[in-house]
Amino acid sequence: MASAPEFVSATPAVAIRPMREADVPAVAEVERSAYAFPWSVGIFRDCLRVGYVCRVVELEGRVIGHGILSMGAGEAHILNLCVQAEYRCLGVGRRLLTLLIDIARGAGMTDAFLEVRPTNTAAIRLYLAMGFEQVGVRRGYYQAVNGREDAAVLRLPLVSD
Ligand SMILES: CC(C)(COP(=O)(O)OP(=O)(O)OC[C@H]1O[C@@H](n2cnc3c(N)ncnc32)[C@H](O)[C@@H]1OP(=O)(O)O)[C@@H](O)C(=O)NCCC(=O)NCCS
Repeated sequence: MASAPEFVSATPAVAIRPMREADVPAVAEVERSAYAFPWSVGIFRDCLRVGYVCRVVELEGRVIGHGILSMGAGEAHILNLCVQAEYRCLGVGRRLLTLLIDIARGAGMTDAFLEVRPTNTAAIRLYLAMGFEQVGVRRGYYQAVNGREDAAVLRLPLVSD
């Protein structure tokens, strides 16, 4: 396992850049290591093909995280936010999410939305810390080991009233 800590606070060695087709196998590997029901290689390729905002976090030439954002009709949707386990709790997820939100705001989106499993406390704490608020529940939205799991729907206004 790679040692994580040296880049933490200022994160100088971490770069966030647009995802390329050639990154997809590495992205899918991080994805598989992070989720019980990971996106496939094909889903990431589709995200690139349809022009979603796709970013990777790179550390010393290796992909250690990814974020995907779709935008349309004034709304941004955070579709995926993932950091490899060894590099969590170091500020990388917050940095990646901040970048996606900045992109959405810069593109004139009025709100950002996302779905999250109510059991995913790490992600929920990040989202609440970033100003997201829960606005709804999607029943049975996620696959789960024993059937389906609800999704909490969170919203962040991107323009002040
Ligand atoms: C959610 C995820 C992206 C967060 O990435 P990260 O790089 O660890 O997050 P950060 O280090 O930037 O943490 C930012 C904030 O999130 C919260 N947080 C992150 N990890 C946490 C944990 N294990 N427990 C509690 N809070 C946590 C904290 O509020 C933290 O702020 P703080 O450091 O000031 O306390 C990461 O845990 C992950 O990839 N999880 C697996 C994939 C996933 O579930 N994605 C979200 C799908 S909706």
